[in-house]
Amino acid sequence: MIDLDHAYWEQRYLQDLTGWDIGGPSTPLKEYIDQLTDKDLRILIPGGGRAWEAEYAHRQGFRNVFVIDLTELPFKDLLERCPEFPQEHLIIGDFFAHAGSYDRIIEQTFFCALDPALRPKYVDHMHTLLSPGGKVVGVLFNDTLNSDKPPFGGSRSEYLPLFTRHFQHLSLEPCYNSISPRAGRELWLSAAKEGYYVPVDCSLYDHFEAAATLKEHVRLELTDGKVQEGIIVDLFQREGAEWLRLSDGTEHRLDRIQALRRP
Ligand SMILES: C[S@@+](CC[C@H](N)C(=O)[O-])C[C@H]1O[C@@H](n2cnc3c(N)ncnc32)[C@H](O)[C@@H]1O
Repeated sequence: MIDLDHAYWEQRYLQDLTGWDIGGPSTPLKEYIDQLTDKDLRILIPGGGRAWEAEYAHRQGFRNVFVIDLTELPFKDLLERCPEFPQEHLIIGDFFAHAGSYDRIIEQTFFCALDPALRPKYVDHMHTLLSPGGKVVGVLFNDTLNSDKPPFGGSRSEYLPLFTRHFQHLSLEPCYNSISPRAGRELWLSAAKEGYYVPVDCSLYDHFEAAATLKEHVRLELTDGKVQEGIIVDLFQREGAEWLRLSDGTEHRLDRIQALRRP
């Protein structure tokens, strides 16, 4: 495997070997940006290259659009096109070393540019960079592509387990508005980080407490459609949320329980 480091990507730009660059915002990302109403959202575009989508979002009035790329060369192009783009929002560096907190992270041809061995780390780091309730959205190739150099391909069934490790609210479906050269070969990704905890209704909490005190056998109907049965052995708080532990050792956040029944 070739080293996909700063020198590699810099050479690609110096030699203008940038076949991924479509010369404008792609339709899926443009239409996604168009339906966002909060212009204060903190948006990160990693491996953003010439950053057509960042320019588009900036021109639409989004004030907190950031781009990170290993090399500064594509940023020069962006600044020539859009001199008013805030330079302090252009970060030259490694995505994996970047720290921050974002409401949206936008993916396009960054995932496929990375060594596939880094994919679990990519998902970990995306999750770390998101604020509670934040989302990573964008397009992933649903195509074999290359195995020895970018773009590296993959399929929905390969990507799903990577993302479900961290993201419970996940959608990865065929993209309906791809640009024509990519039509039928892209998936639309939307993966949301857990939001802030909303305490459960007092009367529901009273039911949990009563069942725990009486050591009753209960049946929990969870928001993901699963059902869990047992005796509540503990009610506790962790990371700002309320939880219970059942006699089989499983732990459940109270806001993910939609009903408690006594069978
Ligand atoms: C295939 S290009 C895609 C550029 C852009 N997303 C687009 O669609 O035009 C991949 C980009 O990722 C950048 N890149 C690669 N590895 C990176 C890393 N670890 N951190 C930040 N940027 C990286 C490269 O410099 C390059 O600009």
